[in-house]
Amino acid sequence: MRPLRWLLMLLLGVGVALAIAAVVLRLLGMPSYEVALRPFEVAGTPEERAHGKALTAVLCRRCHFDRDLRGLAGAALEDAPPRLGRIFAPNLTRDLETGLGSWSLPEVAWMLRTGIHPRSGELTVPVMPRWPRMADADVAAIAAFLASDDPWVAPREVRVPRTEPSFYATWLGFSRWEPHPYPTAAIARPPISDPIAYGQYLVDDVYQCGGCHRDAQDDPFTIDPKAPGYLGGGAPMRDAAGEGVHAANLTPAGLRDWTVDDLRVALVDGFRPDGSLVRWPMPRHLGLGTAEVEAIWAYLRELPPVSRSVLRAPRRVVGERMDAGRHVYERLGCPSCHGHDGADLRAVAEHFDDDAAIAAFVRNPGQRDPWSTMPAWRDRVSDEELSALVAHLRALAATGS
Ligand code: HEC
Ligand code: HEC
Ligand code: HEC
Repeated sequence: MRPLRWLLMLLLGVGVALAIAAVVLRLLGMPSYEVALRPFEVAGTPEERAHGKALTAVLCRRCHFDRDLRGLAGAALEDAPPRLGRIFAPNLTRDLETGLGSWSLPEVAWMLRTGIHPRSGELTVPVMPRWPRMADADVAAIAAFLASDDPWVAPREVRVPRTEPSFYATWLGFSRWEPHPYPTAAIARPPISDPIAYGQYLVDDVYQCGGCHRDAQDDPFTIDPKAPGYLGGGAPMRDAAGEGVHAANLTPAGLRDWTVDDLRVALVDGFRPDGSLVRWPMPRHLGLGTAEVEAIWAYLRELPPVSRSVLRAPRRVVGERMDAGRHVYERLGCPSCHGHDGADLRAVAEHFDDDAAIAAFVRNPGQRDPWSTMPAWRDRVSDEELSALVAHLRALAATGS
């Protein structure tokens, strides 16, 4: 019996030690680091602010945008991994109390580059990306945009709850996640005349495609562009309908039959060569010019091919005869952002004058907001399908189901 008793005592001891560690970590919070702000300048031109808006639209809007307030007033991040805690993207508007109104440009640059909160010195959860190698001119453009008088950042007093990292996240904060050092030398954008270097900069350092287009085992927060299998895809994610989506293989083995124009349509418009929707959470890279897409293409073609076939999860289909409108809604992929029940589409009757206006919106959401992340179906949907779809949206709004 002796050995059993010892074993029990040992287990109890380990349990108590773990409990104490959990309490201590919780009290400690995320690790803190020194903040040494560096002087930081913006050009202050309208072109710089416009470029900053284009970057913000792709890099920040996804998390920090409040759809009802139509600005960067913050949001709860429902799709962040729950084991990291309760995650909220803060208010980035110019409100003095609840937003970034009192932040200096060096503070914004410090936050974006290092991941260390400039006010508290704490490491933020890496759900908030870091851009340690982004060129100074691009960081400046984002900072200048956040300080501008654009409607997206007009002061809105919204107190977003603070992110509460879980015990597990705090433990990772101490053991695994490193803050990035603030660069000591100036970082210039590679010249666009060198497409491969420029494409590499866009893919690795700005848009960080590898954070999603990784393998299931890779840690999304410590992606190494030099590791084997880079951009080979496979990682499972979920769309808004809760259905599985797998990040695609972007190496030459994955995009085998693609052309540079196919890539442009997928990145900017959100559709594949076969006409199907590239589903959420793949962002629409609005504002990417032809030269930039060509550079991304040039770089992707140079990657070592990874022969990994990535699942394209089957989609739920509703028989056309059973319910023509729902059939179109599901077939086009609307649930990937609006869910099967279209819970956020119930106000169409208030927001649009008539059926024609709803139909026009689905064909081109950019009419209402040029930065809309909703793809424009244009003539990818027939008039007949569109009227069935509009009837379905009306029914959703009317029955509330
Ligand atoms: C994937 C979601 C996500 C994206 C994309 C994202 N953020 Fe964040 N951001 C967060 C989260 C979550 C926090 C809170 C982190 C914490 O407190 O640990 C945060 C915190 C911040 C903060 C600190 C604000 C404060 O009041 O504490 C700033 C500034 C910020 N983000 C700016 C940006 C900018 C600028 C971009 C785009 C260039 C961006 N974020 C993109 C999720 C995101
Ligand atoms: C937030 C995560 C995320 C980011 C960031 C991201 N992607 Fe994606 N991407 C996805 C997912 C998920 C899919 C699969 C969508 C589907 O199956 O419908 C995808 C699909 C694609 C496709 C379609 C490929 C195919 O075979 O169908 C291309 C091309 C693509 N991404 C390129 C890129 C490039 C280039 C970047 C960076 C500039 C990028 N993605 C950034 C998540 C992301
Ligand atoms: C990639 C994500 C995405 C997909 C896919 C998508 N939407 Fe949207 N949709 C949005 C977003 C985001 C908005 C909020 C308005 C905006 O940002 O322009 C929106 C707004 C709408 C609105 C306006 C709602 C209102 O009350 O103002 C309608 C109607 C709509 N979507 C219908 C559809 C239909 C129908 C489909 C499928 C054909 C679809 N959406 C596919 C993201 C998406």
